Amino acid sequence: MINVGVLGATGAVGQRFVEILANHPWFDLVTLAASDRSAGKPYGKVVNWRLDTPFPENISKVKVSPTSPKSMKDVDLVFSALPAEIASDVEVEFADAGIGVCSNASSHRMEPDIPLVVPEVNPDHLGLIDVQRDEGRDGFIVTNPNCSTIMMVMALAPIRSFKFSNVKVATMQAISGAGFAGVAAMAIYDNVIPYIGQEEQKMETESLKIMGTLKEKKVINAPFSVSASCHRVPVIDGHTLAVWVNIKNPVKDLVKAYQNYKPPIKGLPTQPEKSVLLMEENDRPQPRLDRMRGKGMTVSVGRLREGVRFVAMGHNTIRGAAGASVLNAELIHKKKYL
Ligand SMILES: NC(=O)c1ccc[n+]([C@@H]2O[C@H](COP(=O)([O-])OP(=O)(O)OC[C@H]3O[C@@H](n4cnc5c(N)ncnc54)[C@H](OP(=O)(O)O)[C@@H]3O)[C@@H](O)[C@H]2O)c1
Repeated sequence: MINVGVLGATGAVGQRFVEILANHPWFDLVTLAASDRSAGKPYGKVVNWRLDTPFPENISKVKVSPTSPKSMKDVDLVFSALPAEIASDVEVEFADAGIGVCSNASSHRMEPDIPLVVPEVNPDHLGLIDVQRDEGRDGFIVTNPNCSTIMMVMALAPIRSFKFSNVKVATMQAISGAGFAGVAAMAIYDNVIPYIGQEEQKMETESLKIMGTLKEKKVINAPFSVSASCHRVPVIDGHTLAVWVNIKNPVKDLVKAYQNYKPPIKGLPTQPEKSVLLMEENDRPQPRLDRMRGKGMTVSVGRLREGVRFVAMGHNTIRGAAGASVLNAELIHKKKYL
């Protein structure tokens, strides 16, 4: 078993990590860390458990650690659910101390030597860990994308061989994407907010890196452009995306590609049976009905029609955050980087 810790363990994404790691076959969750406000206190006292699965009582009395590599000597890998401004320095400290970091934060995603990975889309980009090691780092940082970007690139992966030069996307994003304190109830109830800070820029840049090619230890961006418009809607969990791609092939070819899609990885515990599910009903996918497919790890695609246009939807704190990071860690372990 690999000893792991969670940074930001009390937050929205941190709790998802705790839930997913509670009974993991490869990873033993030994440390829970949070801010100085929580450090030193029992996890059960400082966490405001908001998931609809029961609180794992066995960790209720575990004392929350300060967020420092010195207080985590027995840990091989940490999952970071820290706010980006904190993650920026803290994740480097952990990686320099010889600890692997699988991060949800945006701070390091676009750095040339940091892999931005979705195992079903670009598993080979983990090769950038070797670049970090060549630079003298004992540990490593591996990141997973922004929660809307991951839904889009997973939905594009089965049809990437058709070639396209332009993707347009409009998102309808759940409020859990902003963390517990993120959006006031008075602001989102009976409302749509047509702005999410930095989100459009993240979708437009991260997707090109993820779908790019790793060549001579560098990622060459994918040769298409993305134009995004992002919106917050009153849904608790599950980001929905309307996507337009300039593919000329008839839709029946794309249906076949989705139906025959086989991801380039297998045998990882958190990988769902179907990473991308094509739905044929006119009114699906819907967040309330479809977000928990594949235990929240499946991206559902529907309304595939000429244009080409489709809708994609996935669980933002599982496939869009904690689950994505755990799947990355499983691939890292399988590739013997730990
Ligand atoms: N929510 C999503 O769907 C989603 C998806 C993808 C990526 N992300 C990213 O994941 C990260 C976490 O998001 P979230 O929604 O879980 O945030 P959140 O609910 O606000 O939780 C933040 C966590 O960070 C801890 N923290 C805050 N300041 C700290 C400090 N100075 N030192 C150490 N720990 C500190 C908090 O601990 P205390 O409880 O002690 O304050 C808490 O555990 C962000 O970078 C976010 O952008 C979120």
